[in-house]
Order: sequence, then C-alpha cells, then structure tokens
Amino acid sequence: MKILLLMLLVGCADKSTSTVDTEAENTDASAIPDHPEDTGSDTHADSSVDYRSAKWCAECHPTQFSEWEQSMHRYAAHSPVFDHMAAKAFRDTAGATGTFCTGCHSPLGTMDGEPGTTMAADRSDISLEGVTCVVCHQAVSHSQPIGNTSIEIDLNAPMQGPFDDAVMLEHGSAKSELISSPELCGSCHDVFNFPGLRIEEAYTEYQESPAADMGIRCQDCHMGPEPGVPVERSIGKAAVVDGIQLPQRPISSHRFIGPDYSLIDNFPYADTAASSEAQEEMKTQIDTLLKNAVHITDVSTDEDPEQTTLNVVIENRTSGHNVPTGFTSERQLWVEVEVKEGDETVFVSGNLDADGDLRDHLSWSVIAGEAELDTQLVNFQSLNLLRVMDVSLGIPDVYETIFPFDADYIVRRSLAPLEARTLQYTLPPLSPEAQITVRLRYRNLPPYVLRALDLGDLVSRLHIFDIDEVVLGGTE
Ligand code: HEC
Ligand code: HEC
Ligand code: HEC
Ligand code: HEC
Ligand code: HEC
Repeated sequence: MKILLLMLLVGCADKSTSTVDTEAENTDASAIPDHPEDTGSDTHADSSVDYRSAKWCAECHPTQFSEWEQSMHRYAAHSPVFDHMAAKAFRDTAGATGTFCTGCHSPLGTMDGEPGTTMAADRSDISLEGVTCVVCHQAVSHSQPIGNTSIEIDLNAPMQGPFDDAVMLEHGSAKSELISSPELCGSCHDVFNFPGLRIEEAYTEYQESPAADMGIRCQDCHMGPEPGVPVERSIGKAAVVDGIQLPQRPISSHRFIGPDYSLIDNFPYADTAASSEAQEEMKTQIDTLLKNAVHITDVSTDEDPEQTTLNVVIENRTSGHNVPTGFTSERQLWVEVEVKEGDETVFVSGNLDADGDLRDHLSWSVIAGEAELDTQLVNFQSLNLLRVMDVSLGIPDVYETIFPFDADYIVRRSLAPLEARTLQYTLPPLSPEAQITVRLRYRNLPPYVLRALDLGDLVSRLHIFDIDEVVLGGTE
C-alpha cells in the first residue's frame, strides 16, 4: 500500500522534469572565466548539461554568493541528517522513493543522474551546491499542483531576476514574475505524497494567511535585512564588476534564516574554526527569527483549595504561516513549566529526560519506565501516526512513528498565523511563596531522531533556543 502511494508521488515529482537543452544561449559562453565546465561539472565531462556553478556567479555577485554559501539551501546537499533520512526512506519503501528526496535537496545532481541514495561524500561538485543559484534564477515556470519541486528549470534561460533594467554583461537577464512570487518558494516548500499525507505545507498555510491577503510575500519576510519580518530592503549594488558603474538598487539577503544550522565541522567553510564562528553567528540570527515568530503574552493562576490552575497564553506573531511550519514532524516548540517552593521543585513539565528528549511517547526513558510520561506537556510539534489493525481485538491501534514517511496520518499542533492559544496546567495547591517559571523553547531536531538515524554523535551539537520566559511569584 505505502509503496504504491510513494510510487505515485515519485511519478508526480518526475512530471516536473526540468527542461534541459544543450544549446548554449550566450554565444560568448566560452569567454566566461571559471565556467562550470572547469568547476562544477568536471566530474561529469560526458554530461549533456551546461551547469553554471555558484562559483562563477561569485565573481560578480560576491554578497549574494557569501550569503547563499552559508545558507541551508546549500547545506541541503551536505546535511548528514538529510542523507541518513533519505537512505532510511529509501530502505523503508524498498527503493520506491527513488530520487524524490534528492530531487529537491540537490536538484542539479539529480538532473545529472545521481541516484537517490548518493551521500554528500560521493556527490559531484555541482550536486554539492544543493539548491544553487540557477535552480531559482533559471526557473522559468511551474507546474500544478505547486509543491514537490514543481518548478521547471531551463539552463539556457537568461537569469530571472527582479529588475527590468539590468545591465547585461556576461549573461542575459530578464525580469521574472516567478522569481518574485511565493509560487517559486512554494514549489519546494510544500512536500506531499498523497492528499492525506502532507509532510510540509508552508506554502499551503501561507496561501490562507493574513500576509498573503496583504500582499506580503515569502521574499519580504525571508530575504530582508531582519529574518522573519517584512522590513525595508538594504540598498546596494546587485553586482560588482571592475570598471563598470552599476546603479544602486534594493537588494535581498540570500541567507534564508530558518531554524536549521550546520551540524558538521566543515560547513559552511572547509576551515573548521571559520565554520564554527559562522555557525555561532548564524545562531544569533535564528534567535532573532524565533523571537519574531512567537512569544508568551500572559501567565496567570486561578487558586482553588484543591488545586491551582496555571494559564499560559502563547501567541504566534507572524501573519505568514503556522509556527512551527515546514518540517513540523521534527520541529519542537514547547513550553517548560517549573514550580518551586523554596528549593523544592513541586511541579515540572517540558523538562528533558536522561537522553535529552522530552518525556513523551517517543522517549526511551519513558518507554523503559525510567522516567514518567509528561502528561501535561505542551509541544507544538506534529504527531506522525500509523494505524495498524490489532488482529486479536479486531480494532485499529494507533502508533506514533518517528518519521513522517512511515506514518499514514499527521496531526498538526502548530499555531495558526497570529493565533493566541491559552494553555492550562493543573498544579497542586501552592503556598504564597511558590515561584512559577514558564519558558518557551525551540529545537530543530529531537535527539531520538538523530539516534534512529545512527547519528547519535550529533546530539551534543543540537542547540535549544530560549525564546521567551516569564516568572511569577517567588521572593526575588
Ligand atoms: C532559493 C532561491 C534562490 C537562490 C538559491 C538564489 N537566489 Fe538570488 N534571488 C532570489 C530571489 C527570490 C530574488 C529576488 C528577491 C525579491 O524579489 O525580493 C533574488 C535576487 C537576486 C539578485 C538581484 C539582486 C538582489 O540581491 O536582490 C541577484 C544578483 C541574485 N539573486 C543572485 C544570486 C546568486 C549569485 C545566487 C547563488 C550564489 C543566488 N542568487 C541564489 C532567489 C534565489
Ligand atoms: C561577469 C559578471 C557576472 C557574472 C559571472 C554573473 N553575473 Fe549576474 N549580473 C551581472 C551584472 C553586471 C548584472 C546587472 C546588475 C545591475 O543592473 O544592477 C547582473 C544581474 C543579475 C541578476 C538580476 C537580473 C534581473 O533582471 O533582475 C541576477 C538574478 C543575476 N545576475 C544572477 C546571476 C547568477 C545566478 C549568476 C551565476 C549563474 C550570475 N548572475 C553571474 C554580472 C554577472
Ligand atoms: C528547489 C527547491 C527550493 C526552492 C525553490 C526554495 N527552497 Fe527554501 N529550502 C529548500 C530545501 C531543500 C531546504 C532545506 C535544506 C536543508 O536544511 O536540508 C530549504 C530551506 C529553506 C529555509 C531554511 C529552513 C530551515 O530549516 O532553516 C528557508 C527560510 C527557506 N528555504 C525559504 C525559501 C524561500 C523564501 C524561497 C523562495 C524565495 C525558497 N526557500 C525557495 C528548497 C527550496
Ligand atoms: C509575515 C512574515 C512571513 C512570511 C510572509 C513568510 N514567512 Fe516563513 N517564517 C516567518 C517566521 C517569523 C518564521 C520563524 C517561525 C517558524 O519557524 O515557523 C518563518 C519560518 C519559515 C521556515 C522555517 C520553518 C521551520 O520551522 O522549519 C520556512 C521553511 C519558511 N518560513 C518558509 C516560508 C515560505 C516558503 C513562505 C511563503 C510561502 C513564507 N515562509 C512566508 C515569517 C514569514
Ligand atoms: C519538494 C521539496 C522537498 C522534498 C521532495 C523533500 N524535502 Fe526535505 N526539506 C525540504 C524543505 C523545503 C526543507 C526545509 C523545511 C523547513 O525548514 O521547515 C526540508 C528539510 C528537510 C530536513 C531537515 C533539514 C536537515 O537537512 O536536517 C530533512 C532531514 C529532510 N528535509 C529530509 C528529507 C527526506 C528524507 C526526503 C524524502 C523522503 C525529503 N526531505 C524530501 C524540501 C523537500
């Protein structure tokens, strides 16, 4: 059953096979210095595809290049979590996923015929560029439904950009509706394998959002100087070319800050020290993004002789889509509540078990009986559910799976755009000096996912972002 459905999905991805033509559009292409022929595609001398490597673009677009170089769009083809998860999806479906996963994470490698199980160490240079410049800037149209890499790439097209008066030197340029539209992003930021199992739907959520109504695009919140909010663009040069005076223009950031960051030493740079410094800086950007996304608006208690009710209001600040959005099956946004009377902790929810996991149904400590199930836990992560027939009872049982592709149903718990949700916790009766600390925390991946992918050694690299904190009572 599952294999059949995944085959449908692969068929769907295949439909959008990119337009590839061997005829070069620029007659002077041979004059281009450091042309990808001697960079990206050197390991594919027999390749019929004329790839333009980001390294070439870097000569005249150094800012766009250095931002993209650090971005998750390039990391897409370096990520060990992606490689291992794609390999697992391939195994779990007896190969039916084919190049579905890599088709989006490494579009040019896939166009060049790399198998879906190729890992970073074996990718060609152009494949390692992941979602590289030309994937967006030579996307000329999109198919329907939007999602599953529905963009069509024409590697001979002029560079598709936001300007209608670009100075043309080494490449043709054309103003494009698509490059400036949410449909470009939506082509990859909606991932589904059949109508019932939508793994990612940032674009679908956006379509129904107040931001879409107001005409605010993905590009406005994700390519401006501050991540997550639509602010005025910086002004600068779109290109830098010796001896040529180019106009000042509104320019965009190509960092595309999201909750992910590199979990490996040699990304974004081969030099480990430089990489680690860049990764730290990236975390400050992520912190800004998350603080622009969600906050605690109110904490109060209702006292009762029998019990105390703690009310916590969490509000999504963004009008763009749900929080979390995208890969919600693995994104943990949760509330930690700790109540202390003097030095004694009288209540706790949202704390971590010995393995660093939340005390939910996927915690090994809970399964092994070494930790108690956190029955009041509030986590906005999606639940991946699988219905299995219990043969002895003749009724369906529901299990939580670690991976969305092993589930047949995904329950979303994320906050809708601008939604304020009131949570209630039942606490024991409290003394007047009790101190209640409520924290809103975020982690891109749970440790149990890394362990299930045999990547347990990466757990220590995971970072928890503390987005907001409110303290009630206490003596200080
Ligand atoms: C994920 C898609 C994507 C990728 C990858 C990408 N760009 Fe862009 N780029 C855009 C979008 C979208 C805009 C226009 C933003 C807007 O409409 O506000 C843009 C704008 C530009 C512009 C116009 C000037 C500016 O900064 O706004 C240049 C030049 C450019 N990109 C070069 C590059 C280069 C070089 C690379 C690779 C190093 C690259 N882009 C990678 C999506 C992308
Ligand atoms: C030899 C220099 C050079 C190289 C190499 C180069 N560009 Fe450009 N590019 C320019 C110049 C010059 C402009 C025009 C800037 C202006 O008018 O402000 C430009 C403009 C653009 C625009 C804006 C087009 C528009 O109409 O809005 C995009 C997008 C772009 N380049 C992408 C790329 C990408 C992607 C690569 C690599 C595949 C690349 N460029 C390589 C010089 C270069
Ligand atoms: C060709 C497919 C493709 C297109 C087009 C594309 N993206 Fe992405 N994007 C990806 C992939 C794949 C990743 C995740 C890579 C990874 O971390 O493994 C990603 C990551 C991101 C992230 C970072 C998410 C994180 O978890 O940190 C943001 C933000 C983002 N994209 C925004 C955009 C926006 C905005 C656009 C349109 C201007 C866009 N993308 C266009 C494929 C695409
Ligand atoms: C009004 C501003 C706004 C708009 C419009 C917007 N976003 Fe976002 N986006 C945010 C904020 C804030 C976050 C951080 C919170 C989160 O992760 O959900 C975010 C996060 C993301 C992430 C990371 C999700 C995760 O948690 O893994 C992706 C991917 C993304 N956006 C893609 C898009 C795409 C694609 C569009 C357009 C279809 C879009 N966004 C439109 C503000 C916006
Ligand atoms: C249509 C495009 C598309 C396809 C197909 C796709 N992904 Fe992704 N993937 C994305 C985008 C976009 C993000 C970033 C989403 C976000 O931040 O919310 C992402 C993020 C991820 C991440 C988290 C980032 C990281 O590198 O750790 C993993 C892991 C991942 N995908 C694995 C897979 C696997 C496995 C498959 C195949 C079963 C797959 N993806 C298929 C677009 C795609």
